[in-house]
Amino acid sequence: MKGRGRESCQHAVSIAVIAALAAAALTGAAAQESAAPAHASAAHGKAISYTCLGCHGIDDYKNAYPMYSVPKLEGQNPEYLAAALHGYRDGDRSHLTMHSQASTLSDKDMEDIAAYFAGKPLAPTGKAQGSVPQTATLCVSCHGQDGVAIAPIYPSLAGQHEDYLVRALEEYRKGGRNNPVMKGFAATLKDEDIHVIARYFSHLKPSLSTESRPYTWLTAR
Ligand code: HEC
Ligand code: HEC
Repeated sequence: MKGRGRESCQHAVSIAVIAALAAAALTGAAAQESAAPAHASAAHGKAISYTCLGCHGIDDYKNAYPMYSVPKLEGQNPEYLAAALHGYRDGDRSHLTMHSQASTLSDKDMEDIAAYFAGKPLAPTGKAQGSVPQTATLCVSCHGQDGVAIAPIYPSLAGQHEDYLVRALEEYRKGGRNNPVMKGFAATLKDEDIHVIARYFSHLKPSLSTESRPYTWLTAR
């Protein structure tokens, strides 16, 4: 009985933490709402995405040091992609190449390029596939049972490269990424949890994909 009392107490504490973090995330979402308004021009995004495609348009392209896969962007939420670009530009995410890439973009360019890369964002099925790993039970409240995010400001993780998901979680833990919500969650994870979670989400379908509409002079509009 004693044990159970402590368990439910811890449960209550973690619920409070989640509620606080979720509220923080939603405030962030409201602040970011202007990130990808309806008037974003995917056509303009495409026209200025030539350099990006050198990495994001090639299947299984790798970041060299350290070695991990360049993230898939197609099917992602445009609001999230624009927020990520702001993060690289403004220093909330550290990555040298992405910082210099994002530094050349205006806010409007980011919205347009996010709209282009996202294409048709994945639609949630609301169903878990197999059993969600125990350490990921909180995660799915934002990232979705099927890895498709429940709100546009959250990233979908379904089918993302496993090694990239590991890298992203390590960055939140180490402070290379400063998002307060994810820093809080990542801090609770052990190395082995990170690997189990990354493996789980990377196998879910429908899946994010590598940009499949490469730029050419003929297709640029
Ligand atoms: C030299 C290769 C390279 C080029 C060129 C490049 N990227 Fe990236 N991009 C990466 C890598 C590697 C990451 C992951 C960085 C990290 O670990 O945070 C990334 C991350 C991103 C993310 C975050 C995705 C996520 O799931 O959080 C977005 C959005 C993005 N890039 C868009 C762009 C855009 C737009 C351009 C062109 C203006 C561009 N990238 C050019 C390699 C590249
Ligand atoms: C309250 C909502 C919420 C919860 C719960 C949550 N996340 Fe996140 N997650 C976010 C947001 C918001 C971001 C984008 C942060 C940023 O801008 O870097 C994110 C980003 C990520 C990314 C980076 C994705 C990419 O494309 O770079 C991974 C991986 C991730 N979360 C995994 C997890 C895991 C694993 C858990 C559980 C331990 C979790 N998240 C719990 C909201 C949440």
